[in-house]
Amino acid sequence: MHFSLHITSNYTIYIKLTIILIVAVVGLLLAGCSESQPQAPKGATQARAASSVPARWYAAEHVTKGGQFYAQFCASCHGVAGQGAFNWKQRGADCKFPPPPLNGNAHTWHHPSRVLIKIIKEGSPGGLGNMPPWGQVLKDGDIAAVIAWFQNEWPDPVYAAWYQREMKSRGQN
Ligand code: HEC
Repeated sequence: MHFSLHITSNYTIYIKLTIILIVAVVGLLLAGCSESQPQAPKGATQARAASSVPARWYAAEHVTKGGQFYAQFCASCHGVAGQGAFNWKQRGADCKFPPPPLNGNAHTWHHPSRVLIKIIKEGSPGGLGNMPPWGQVLKDGDIAAVIAWFQNEWPDPVYAAWYQREMKSRGQN
């Protein structure tokens, strides 16, 4: 009796260990990418909080010129209208993020222009993502024009929210 009980408890422990192992393996598979997930964009709510609508910094010719560069160098990844990859919030099989929307639906507006310029010139920060560097291809004025092109896709509240951060980053707020 004692012997069989002993066997049963060993067997139970064996089953428990197996379950723990399966859970751990499945967990590892699901959480294969080590870094934390990006936060859902708060753009819509925060952007709406901005009260006045500032004038756009660019002129129509920036947008036209930027649109040509955009179509040539950016649209293949970020989409013809800047809509991004459909699954941009989910890491891909390589654990890197797909191209996000630049059209105001994601968090591009979080970045003041010096950060936008840096990302476009140097690509993904630390070379850790799939955004290629464009500093060898596009001149400063071209990059400004491309930024004007995608900012022109942003609704006024999104632009206003970006503008607040822009002023802050320039120490003017
Ligand atoms: C090969 C695909 C690819 C091309 C081409 C590409 N990008 Fe990207 N871009 C990405 C990916 C992927 C990311 C996300 C980077 C990351 O997670 O590190 C990104 C991120 C960005 C961001 C940051 C967006 C944010 O909300 O933080 C900007 C701005 C950007 N790209 C602009 C451009 C511009 C302008 C061009 C054209 C000159 C361009 N990209 C061309 C793939 C691309």
